[in-house]
Amino acid sequence: MDIVVKPDIHVFKSPEETVLGLADRLISKVNTVVVEEGVCSLLLSGGSTPVPLFKYLVEAAADHIPWDSLHIFWADERFVPRSNSASNFANAMSYFSRTDMRRAQIHPIPVDYPSAEEAAKAYEQELRLWSIGSVPRFDLVLLGMGADGHTASLFPGDSALAVNDRLVSAAMSPDEPRSRVTVTLPVLNAARDIHFLVTGSTKSGAISEYRKAQESGRATNPASKVQPESGRITLWLDEPAAGRPASG
Ligand code: 6PG
Repeated sequence: MDIVVKPDIHVFKSPEETVLGLADRLISKVNTVVVEEGVCSLLLSGGSTPVPLFKYLVEAAADHIPWDSLHIFWADERFVPRSNSASNFANAMSYFSRTDMRRAQIHPIPVDYPSAEEAAKAYEQELRLWSIGSVPRFDLVLLGMGADGHTASLFPGDSALAVNDRLVSAAMSPDEPRSRVTVTLPVLNAARDIHFLVTGSTKSGAISEYRKAQESGRATNPASKVQPESGRITLWLDEPAAGRPASG
């Protein structure tokens, strides 16, 4: 896959400053989209990196976000009960439940199906209901990146990464919980505005690989295969993830 979208890259001294930088941008974007469109769709990722961002948005920044005009979806989910601490939905909702968003604005990936494949089919229906075209075009997408260069639950070598005729797929992670449900690259590549939040030295290899792909023009790791047809990509990194020694 050729690289067609050059990302903007912002590097900060600390994870805290990185989160603040991204939060400011997200708040501004959400407000702009809501003024222009009346509603803003946000596709969230899970994992631990975005947790301080969620906390900041619902605490310090709560009054600056038009919560009643936001619809939240998930880029991926661990196929575990919501009572499980690994649940992306449960972790995010421990923050977003403090806002006045109505249940109809929250679109979790279902996990109460016999298999991840059936859950994926159900979520695909929900995305199709939401989207005007054949593929939903999310206004804002928040992605993380694994040390192996995965994003959402699109892992190197997993079949879900190559799915291009579905919106949602079952996937397998090399780490527990292995069974996942993830949106596919076509959904990510239809997005308007994609933001990667990546911090910590464990991610420097994946970021280095991502940057090499940018330079060579050939996508390699899953994160570099996120190439929105007519959207933007911004990377929000701290110095260790960017491969720079943390400055004092
Ligand atoms: C997930 C995420 C995944 C995450 C990366 C980074 O469900 O785990 O969607 O893509 O963004 O694995 O995870 P950390 O932020 O925990 O390092």
